[in-house]
Amino acid sequence: MQDSSLTRRTFLAAAGGAAAVAARPAWGLMRSARTVRKGRVITGRKINIASVGCGGQGGHDIGQFAGERVVALCDVDFARAVGTFKRFPDARRFRDFREMLTEMDEQIDAVQISTPDHMHFPVAMMAIERGKHVYLQKPITHTVVEARLLTEAARRHNVVTQMGNQGHSNEGTRLVKEWIEAGVIGDVREVHLWTNRPVWPQNIALPEKGLPPPPTLDWNRWLGVAPLRPYHTAYMPFAWRGWWEWGCGAIGDMGCHTMDACFWALNLGAPSRVRAEVDGGSAFSCPAGSAVTYEFPARGGLPPVTVTWSDGSRKPPRPAALEAEREMSGSGQLYVGSKGVIMDTGDYCDSPRLIPERAMKSFTRPPKTLERVKNGHYQNWLQAIRGEIEAPVSNFDYAGPLTEMALLGNVAIRAGVPFRWDAKTLRCDRPEAQAFIDKSYRMF
Ligand SMILES: NC(=O)c1ccc[n+]([C@@H]2O[C@H](COP(=O)([O-])OP(=O)(O)OC[C@H]3O[C@@H](n4cnc5c(N)ncnc54)[C@H](O)[C@@H]3O)[C@@H](O)[C@H]2O)c1
Repeated sequence: MQDSSLTRRTFLAAAGGAAAVAARPAWGLMRSARTVRKGRVITGRKINIASVGCGGQGGHDIGQFAGERVVALCDVDFARAVGTFKRFPDARRFRDFREMLTEMDEQIDAVQISTPDHMHFPVAMMAIERGKHVYLQKPITHTVVEARLLTEAARRHNVVTQMGNQGHSNEGTRLVKEWIEAGVIGDVREVHLWTNRPVWPQNIALPEKGLPPPPTLDWNRWLGVAPLRPYHTAYMPFAWRGWWEWGCGAIGDMGCHTMDACFWALNLGAPSRVRAEVDGGSAFSCPAGSAVTYEFPARGGLPPVTVTWSDGSRKPPRPAALEAEREMSGSGQLYVGSKGVIMDTGDYCDSPRLIPERAMKSFTRPPKTLERVKNGHYQNWLQAIRGEIEAPVSNFDYAGPLTEMALLGNVAIRAGVPFRWDAKTLRCDRPEAQAFIDKSYRMF
């Protein structure tokens, strides 16, 4: 095992006036093999799918592909993955995704990835460079630079990608977009998003001493590219969300769900400024709560809009249009327009309504203009791999910029300063913020 952290080496190269991320960030040094493989359309047979991180949510995810051929399962903890192993007894088992992708290269068409967030990028990048189609949990990456690199790589390798923000396939997300585009609530200059997360510990001290890892767990491989740290039960499973080295806090957990509808409906693109107010937290532990403000400039015919995000101890403002007797939901989203207000009271924009309720009751719905997703978010990915549709709805050309928006909130939270953002050059105007756009990688 090597334990050498690479120094930060992200190169931003300007090309023809438009800056692009150079192909060799710190990550580039870790790659053992470069390939130029392209994704293949699979017809006339089942799709050969491998899973990385197949305990936890991954067990559910790979179960959605049970109608295909599950050829390989990779998990660093065979005890956690045991249920999935039993369900797919013919699949080969691995502890290391690199070994799996190398040894079974030709036998794998597509990879589903549900590891903790810090390993999304290394696994997905290796799969994409080998021409594998990828279903990747949200947020697609741990840093903004990774999101950009992965998006560009997916395009370069022509692979079919889908982020696990399943709400993007639902009816409510489409309704919000159709209502806003039809002018139902007029110009939208204000959006509020909120979540009841974190529902795991945050704003806590690092454990003073490590513990011996359970014998079934390969702790070094769980840490992967993250700095070496002694094992502790406070970190995993699930609780890694609240530690910056592996998770992305409440925004990482829910941002790509709850920000999704407004990102799409309002064609947000990249914010020009981001700032955050934070309760507690440290260099290691995510805060008890945060309120992030994103400012987006005018876009096409759309006016500038301010999007606020509230989590944990921070709550959104109560909308004036909400009836006094109605309680605010734990999670939700609110669109304040010049002619009306839309509210959804869940995580995934399942059932948006105009508020107050009397506005909803007298509302003549505009025509449905957007295509609906047949058979759900997971099948949507498979259909594109078979060439039946052009691309999944949350492919990385969409999911990459959405992930960047979400993670810029974390940059503001961690930096403690407001900053201006230039998405083209991936530059913040404050070095304190720029420090969190990218990260270093451990060789493991
Ligand atoms: N879309 C959704 O609704 C939804 C819901 C829950 C979780 N998620 C996402 O799923 C991912 C996993 O979350 P979780 O709650 O299941 O976490 P978890 O800690 O419960 O499970 C992660 C699994 O990955 C394994 N693992 C860890 N590192 C690995 C590595 N390097 N290689 C192979 N396997 C590895 C673990 O042993 C475990 O089985 C996260 O990205 C999370 O955001 C999405």
